[in-house]
Amino acid sequence: MNILVTGAAGFIGFHLSKRLLAHDHHVIGVDNLNDYYDVHLKEERLKILEQSANFEFHKLDIANEKAIKTLFEERSISIVINLAAQAGVRYSLTNPHSYVHSNLSGFVNILEACRHYQVKHLIYASSSSVYGANSKIPFSTKDSVDHPVSLYAATKKANELMAHTYSHLYQLPTTGLRFFTVYGPWGRPDMAYFSFTKNIIDGNPIKVFNHGDMSRDFTYIDDIVEGIVKLVDHPPQYDSHWDQENRNPSSSYAPYKVYNIGNKSPVRLLDFIQLLEKLLGQKAIVEFSPMQPGDVQMTYADMTDLQKEIGFLPITSLEVGLRQFVDWYKQYYQK
Ligand SMILES: NC(=O)c1ccc[n+]([C@@H]2O[C@H](COP(=O)([O-])OP(=O)(O)OC[C@H]3O[C@@H](n4cnc5c(N)ncnc54)[C@H](O)[C@@H]3O)[C@@H](O)[C@H]2O)c1
Repeated sequence: MNILVTGAAGFIGFHLSKRLLAHDHHVIGVDNLNDYYDVHLKEERLKILEQSANFEFHKLDIANEKAIKTLFEERSISIVINLAAQAGVRYSLTNPHSYVHSNLSGFVNILEACRHYQVKHLIYASSSSVYGANSKIPFSTKDSVDHPVSLYAATKKANELMAHTYSHLYQLPTTGLRFFTVYGPWGRPDMAYFSFTKNIIDGNPIKVFNHGDMSRDFTYIDDIVEGIVKLVDHPPQYDSHWDQENRNPSSSYAPYKVYNIGNKSPVRLLDFIQLLEKLLGQKAIVEFSPMQPGDVQMTYADMTDLQKEIGFLPITSLEVGLRQFVDWYKQYYQK
C-alpha cells in the first residue's frame, strides 16, 4: 500500500514512517525541511528512513498547490497521513502567517488532492490545544471546542471543520487526531521536556510558567504511532445513529471522526521536573514565571472513544518513556 506521510522528517512523521516501513508499506514522505527548529535533526531522521528501499522522499511544501497535484498525479496514493504543519503555541503569537500558510493553505491542498485522486482515508493531526479555555476535565471529543486561545489551536480546529466539509461533499473518509503533548527520542527541541533536559544537563536555568501550576497529559511517541497505525485500516463510516437534535461533534452522518490520543494521566509540571532530575541525576535551577499568553493550565484526554472503536489505550508510563528520551538525548548529543 502506498501511504503518503506529510511532515515525514518531523518528530511524529519520522516515527510513524519507520513503523509503516517495518510493516512493509511503501511510504512516500513529504517535508519542506523548514528551519522552525534544527534542520540537521530533520535530516538525520531522514537518513534513517532512507535506509529502507520502500521509502521515497519529496522535499516540497504542502502549500505549493502545483507540487502537491503533480505528486498525486504521478503516484497512486491510497492513504494520506497529514502531519506537516506549523506546530507550537507560543510561536503562533509572533508568526501567525506561518500557521495560515502550512495549516490552512497547505491543508486545503491536501484535501483537494484526496478528493480528486480517490484517497481511501485521510488521517490528519489535530491537537489537544483545540480545547482552549475549557475547564471541564477530562477533555472529551463530545465537548464544544469553540473557544481556542491561540491561533495555532484555531487552525487545528479549522482543519477539523474543513475535513468535515470534504467528508460531507465528497464522501472522503477523514479522521482527525487530537494529540496530547507527545514526547520521546528524536523529539522536538522547541518543546519543554526537551529544553528542560538540555538546560538541566548544561547547568542553565529552566523557565517554569504559571509558577509551576500546570499539568500535561504527556503521551509517549510509540503509543501515538500505535494508535495511528491501528486507525489506518479503520476509515470512519457514516454514523447511522448520529442525532441531528443532539449533535455529537466528534462524528457525523458523513464519514468523519475526531479522536483524542492522550495518556489520560495528567502530570503536574513540578512532578515532571522532579522525575527528570532523578533520571538525569542532576538538579534543575528553576525560574518561576507567569502564565504565557496562549497557554492552557491543564490537558487531560478522555480516551473512551478510541478505546471503544479500536480497543486502543496508551501503555507507556511517564517514567519509562522519559527514560527512553533521556537515554537517546545523552547518546545523540554525546552528553
Ligand atoms: N508533538 C506534539 O506534542 C503535538 C501535539 C499536538 C499536535 N501535534 C501535531 O502533530 C503534527 C506533527 O507534529 P510534530 O511534533 O512531529 O512536529 P514537527 O514540527 O517535528 O513535524 C512537522 C514537520 O512538518 C514539516 N512542515 C511544516 N510545514 C510544512 C509545509 N508547509 N510543507 C511541508 N512540510 C512542512 C516540518 O518541516 C516538520 O518536519 C503537527 O501537525 C502538530 O501540529 C503535535
